[in-house]
Amino acid sequence: MDEQFRNRLSEHAEAVTRFLDKAISPDEIRQGEISRPAQLIAAMRYATLNGGKRLRPFVTIESAALFGVSEAAAMPTAAALECIHCYSLVHDDLPAMDDDDLRRGKPTVHRKWDEATAILAGDSLLTFAFDLVTAPCDGVDETVRCKLASHLARAAGPGGMAGGQMLDLQAEDGDPGMKEVLTLQSMKTGALIRFAAEAGAILGKASPGEQEILSRYGRLAGQAFQLADDILDVTATTEQMGKKTGKDGEAGKGTLVSLLGLDEARRRLDGLVEEAVAILEPFGDRSNVLKATARFFAGRDS
Ligand code: IPE
Ligand code: IPE
Ligand code: MG
Ligand code: MG
Ligand code: MG
Repeated sequence: MDEQFRNRLSEHAEAVTRFLDKAISPDEIRQGEISRPAQLIAAMRYATLNGGKRLRPFVTIESAALFGVSEAAAMPTAAALECIHCYSLVHDDLPAMDDDDLRRGKPTVHRKWDEATAILAGDSLLTFAFDLVTAPCDGVDETVRCKLASHLARAAGPGGMAGGQMLDLQAEDGDPGMKEVLTLQSMKTGALIRFAAEAGAILGKASPGEQEILSRYGRLAGQAFQLADDILDVTATTEQMGKKTGKDGEAGKGTLVSLLGLDEARRRLDGLVEEAVAILEPFGDRSNVLKATARFFAGRDS
């Protein structure tokens, strides 16, 4: 299963990269656009085509597959989500936020160019995501595209990722407890991962009961993902992660590792994965890839 899973992960990741490479190109002017400034497009390409794991689009494509939706039909949504994720990283690394110089093993966008370019590349990726998700696509009707856009906006906006980033920064100056940390994590990281799973159910016009299962799976997978990130911040090397580690402690960030200690955090991570796997039981073997994904989120080493 492990090798099969990894092959599948890299196949989808390559497809996402090909799609983004084509969509974010200086020559691919879309109807209504006036021109595409070379430096802005270069920064957007650098932010998206520089070796991300593509885990969120993977969850969208695999969740959609659960309901018989093809990779091609799921791709614009998956790629839109990746654009928003990449924008969130560009802004997260800015001096006003986490002030990081290294991302995916390379200089961060504001280091490679400057802060203004990084801000505008982030703005453009966020906006472009909604162009992708709403654009006509074979097999995805207008109602579904509208619903996807609405869910994506809620996941990325003030009550989701961006709101979570605000709480994350504020927590540096306070002494957040469990409840606060769980809320901010469910927003800053959890919301986009929850959307990744929900999007598959929306694309597949799943029943309300099935949508609820995917939503709960996404919530648990998102929690597991950030918990693993916090553990890796303490245990992994900068080379391994392609981003500076040991930063959370330095910045005085409240994480579950700082609150619970490493051993308890690891136990909690195992529990989250078990729960995520159990939630999918009604789908039986058809959900094996999503189950393996939850395990991968927790067991990853980069
Ligand atoms: C990193 O996400 C940011 C967090 C939400 C913890 P990933 O680990 O998915 O980053 P990439 O896309 O693979 O670089
Ligand atoms: C990032 O959380 C969350 C978002 C980018 C929305 P972190 O600040 O922990 O992510 P890394 O560790 O820099 O990737
Ligand atoms: Mg951050
Ligand atoms: Mg950061
Ligand atoms: Mg982190």
